[in-house]
Amino acid sequence: GQDVMTAREVVLETPDAVAQYVADFLMEKACAAQGVFRIALSGGSTPRKLYALMAKAGYAGRFPWDRTEFFYGDDRFVPADSPDSNRGMVQSILFAHVPVPPENIHPMPDRGEPDDAARSYEADLQRAYGADTLVAGKPLFDVVLLGLGENGHTASLFPRQPVLEEKTRWVASCVPDDAPHTRLTLTYPAIASSRHVLFLVTGPSKTDVLSRVRAGDPAEPASHIRSDGEIVWIIDRGAAGQAEGK
Ligand code: 6PG
Repeated sequence: GQDVMTAREVVLETPDAVAQYVADFLMEKACAAQGVFRIALSGGSTPRKLYALMAKAGYAGRFPWDRTEFFYGDDRFVPADSPDSNRGMVQSILFAHVPVPPENIHPMPDRGEPDDAARSYEADLQRAYGADTLVAGKPLFDVVLLGLGENGHTASLFPRQPVLEEKTRWVASCVPDDAPHTRLTLTYPAIASSRHVLFLVTGPSKTDVLSRVRAGDPAEPASHIRSDGEIVWIIDRGAAGQAEGK
């Protein structure tokens, strides 16, 4: 297993290069997997380029959609047609354009009580996993995609939120005090039950928070991410704090 300090780092020239690297990584792992391949998708803006790449004919025609199950690392607790919905974003950029069986897409619930929604998503995950307790060596996810917020959050594990202390539940709701919308999020134990955690971080606005997390600053929620498998930082030169062109 790995933590954010021992994780390896891949620095690429541009956000497009980051998207291409991750698309190639997912293709390689999904094609090599025996049987079902489970991915937890990240939201926000960084992964949009990745999802657009995956929707292109040359890629979509080769990816094993029929044996890949798509879950979400987090979502805002808003209707799918809201501009803030991660589920809505992935549906419009990727799923609307590729031959993924609808039953392979597992969006987070977007109505009712947040805690009930978290419980029902957890049940969805347990059905997919085939058990209700996580076992090391039997990862829940093949790949978990994560972003990094400037306040050190990842998924919807926000600073000062009770969800940061959650050690058994796989999914929880949270109401960040520094972000709009109630959220649903995978918890640290659920994310740790993975073969590969990929952090996608681009742009100079992330340089400071990235260096704090890479140093393991405990004040940053992302610093506490672990994987039973590997963690890889896939960043561009902007986020790495390296001026362009050098
Ligand atoms: C979300 C994401 C969140 C995101 C970070 C970074 O629902 O917003 O899951 O964790 O990865 O906020 O967002 P950007 O990629 O937009 O910088």
